[in-house]
Amino acid sequence: MPSPWATTLTLASLVPLVSACLREFSNLAPRHTHRKPIVRRDEPEAWPPVLTKHETILANSFDNNSIDDWANYYGHQVKLAGLGKEAAEWTRDRWAESGFDSKLVEYHVYLSYPVHQSLAVTFANDTTADVTIQEEGLPEDDVTNRKDSIPTFHGYSASGNVSAEYVYVGRGTGADFERLVDLGVDLEGKIALIRYGSIFRGLKVKNAQDHGMIGAIIFTDPADDGNITVAKGYEAYPDGPARHPDSVQKGSVLFLSTYPGDPTTPGYASKEGVPRADTSKVTPKIPSLPISFRAAEPLLAALDGHGLTPSEVNRTIWKGALDAEYRTGPAPGVTLSLKNVMEGKITPIWNVIGVINGTNPDETLVIGNHRDTWMIGGTGDPNSGSAILVELTRAFKKLIDSGWKPRRNIVLASWDAEEYGLVGSVEWVEEHVDWLKDTAIAYVNIDVAVSGPRPGFAATPELHEIGASLLKKVVYPNFGGFNRSLYDAWQDASGGNIEVLGSGSDFTAFLHNGIGSIDLGAGQGPGDPIWHYHSNYDTYHWMATFGDPGFHVHSAIGQYLSLLVFHLLDDEVIPFNVADYATELRAYLEDVAETIANADADVDLAELEAAVAVFGEEAEKLEALRKSATKLGHKNKNLVRRLNEAYRDFQRGFVSQGGLPNREFYKHVVTAPGLDTGYAAVTFPGITEGVQYGNISIANEWVSRTAKGILAAAAVLRV
Ligand SMILES: *[C@@H]1O[C@H](CO)[C@@H](O)[C@H](O)[C@H]1NC(C)=O
Ligand SMILES: *[C@@H]1O[C@H](CO)[C@@H](O)[C@H](O)[C@H]1NC(C)=O
Ligand SMILES: *[C@@H]1O[C@H](CO)[C@@H](O)[C@H](O)[C@H]1NC(C)=O
Ligand SMILES: *[C@@H]1O[C@H](CO)[C@@H](O)[C@H](O)[C@H]1NC(C)=O
Ligand SMILES: *[C@@H]1O[C@H](CO)[C@@H](O)[C@H](O)[C@H]1NC(C)=O
Ligand SMILES: *[C@@H]1O[C@H](CO)[C@@H](O)[C@H](O)[C@H]1NC(C)=O
Ligand SMILES: *[C@@H]1O[C@H](CO)[C@@H](O)[C@H](O)[C@H]1NC(C)=O
Ligand SMILES: *[C@@H]1O[C@H](CO)[C@@H](O)[C@H](O)[C@H]1NC(C)=O
Ligand SMILES: [Zn+2]
Repeated sequence: MPSPWATTLTLASLVPLVSACLREFSNLAPRHTHRKPIVRRDEPEAWPPVLTKHETILANSFDNNSIDDWANYYGHQVKLAGLGKEAAEWTRDRWAESGFDSKLVEYHVYLSYPVHQSLAVTFANDTTADVTIQEEGLPEDDVTNRKDSIPTFHGYSASGNVSAEYVYVGRGTGADFERLVDLGVDLEGKIALIRYGSIFRGLKVKNAQDHGMIGAIIFTDPADDGNITVAKGYEAYPDGPARHPDSVQKGSVLFLSTYPGDPTTPGYASKEGVPRADTSKVTPKIPSLPISFRAAEPLLAALDGHGLTPSEVNRTIWKGALDAEYRTGPAPGVTLSLKNVMEGKITPIWNVIGVINGTNPDETLVIGNHRDTWMIGGTGDPNSGSAILVELTRAFKKLIDSGWKPRRNIVLASWDAEEYGLVGSVEWVEEHVDWLKDTAIAYVNIDVAVSGPRPGFAATPELHEIGASLLKKVVYPNFGGFNRSLYDAWQDASGGNIEVLGSGSDFTAFLHNGIGSIDLGAGQGPGDPIWHYHSNYDTYHWMATFGDPGFHVHSAIGQYLSLLVFHLLDDEVIPFNVADYATELRAYLEDVAETIANADADVDLAELEAAVAVFGEEAEKLEALRKSATKLGHKNKNLVRRLNEAYRDFQRGFVSQGGLPNREFYKHVVTAPGLDTGYAAVTFPGITEGVQYGNISIANEWVSRTAKGILAAAAVLRV
């Protein structure tokens, strides 16, 4: 695995791509992308794009004014997990108006709510000062001033009042801590001051806890905002595109890479009255709080002159953009006093599920978006997706009113409690896993649909071709001053790279039950207005002023989503390409061989190489059969049925070998969130992490298990 700072340099020009929501939107996250970018094709595409009758009905149905209405509605509701029943009912009613059979589905899950949060610092001169942790209300932005605003906290953080000297530990990755230990920095009994970015925040807290630290403060650093900062001449929100200095990133500190979902019900649905497990494997024992860069600056500056400098620690991204030396400390007598009182309880949450049955009951497409937010706003995360889904139901109503019938079942989901740890989607999948494994052809996720102008998607490889090609059918009006296709905008933003799904949004439970998934949206890139991720400033006002004035990006992403959903529902043969899956497997094989060579580890990949070759042969044969089925105009119904069964079922083979060591939830042998990343993917995780963590017997065992999973998938392709 590349170290995050090395990745920063190589990926700096490739920024935005999809921003899933538990995932911090940062170009500093280590990413694993498609090894062979989809090359821009030179032959001229039809322009403007030519759409079929049905595609035209869908695309024309997306109206920026009504999307704006839905975004405005969601942007003014309290939707914190378990407190958003009104928005759930509203969502159900809107979907029902468009003919979806819609209902609330309740689970009883463990959540934690803030009771008292405060932070104080004592400087070397013995003065004590309160550190501001709340975000200032803005007269221009109504929702930032509300009495029912949700205070700053970390979901699932431990209750505790602690007082101690503190140490700046960089981004708090496993590698950062290893380096500090090697350099003899005293961590035991201290509070960690940690910079956001690179890995999931819960793992930062876990790393601090594992090193004997007693509390954690995580801050946002303006260095991660590139050129769009006050220091570089931009005004801060609400007057300009730079980050508001009070902006705080709330969020969950669940140990996401161990298992997501309700921490008290690993592996089964959280119905009322079910047995409850201990949560200590996945929730921190030490308290933590997030703070803004304005609040962090004096804390960092108070360490000036104490401990190691960034160059002594030898970390190029150790130093940020605040006025401080970014030394480790501790500074004698300089202490933090952190108070965090949480109320944990088992409480109801509400998914909204909307269904239209297809003419074929054996094939189902699930489309999901979460509804819960850390704040009243959340207009990027996830209201942009929620607003688009309401518009999508209206578009499909028009299609159905025109006489069209879905071939496959459509299941729409508005998940609750995603933010705490994908809770609503994991519990629903756990309840319906047998039916899903029998009928699901794919899961389509839309979380942060819009946080900037640059489209991107991440997907399992069989969806790469259809995902990229449908971008060509959408006009991206006035992007950069002229009209062009969403595909061209995507090529410019991503270089044709498609990310590998790790975790960080609701596709996770589907993927790890062998259901292919795609996650799409448009995000922020270099030079774009700063999106206030998980802050009270992620508001309707920000979106209408800076993020997407006119709501045209919303419309374009909605059109793209609706065309994708339409083809997945309607194409006689499911529009997958499994040859692309084989291409990716070969690329991951090269990666893992390199990891093994770099570690000089004694791991024999022969069995895996053979399995990937078999998969490749079966994939080629299946794609050839698909071509002949198409040539016959799909008249050979038996062949069409067998092709569809193969496309629907092959990925179940990848999850047939039991879960990864000590984290059984993650069953996919090809991809999983990294143990120390939490959202970025690690490919062939059993082998790669076995080598990374020096457990060669695990790595060898997983060569065999991974090969068996791939052979099981290949066997399903053999029609
Ligand atoms: C104590 O030190 C802090 C931090 O340097 C400074 O802001 C504050 O003004 C000082 N107070 C007094 C009374 O000197
Ligand atoms: C922690 O501090 C808060 C606020 O002062 C107080 O209400 C709470 O009782 C304290 N908890 C403990 C365990 O001392
Ligand atoms: C410092 O970092 C460089 C570049 O990553 C590396 O080559 C070197 O070995 C490191 N030095 C130490 C003492 O860790
Ligand atoms: C869809 O079909 C299932 C059985 O396959 C049935 O239980 C359900 O009521 C149907 N739903 C609708 C909305 O027709
Ligand atoms: C872009 O397309 C829109 C309609 O889709 C049209 O109104 C506008 O004039 C076009 N702009 C340019 C610069 O061609
Ligand atoms: C920031 O601005 C500098 C100077 O204009 C430019 O060279 C650099 O590419 C910009 N960086 C980004 C990330 O846009
Ligand atoms: C929708 O788009 C039109 C045309 O560009 C624009 O005039 C209107 O203000 C937009 N609506 C909203 C709510 O932004
Ligand atoms: C390697 O993994 C096996 C199986 O989980 C475990 O028993 C063993 O202790 C591990 N060894 C090391 C060095 O981590
Ligand atoms: Zn989200």
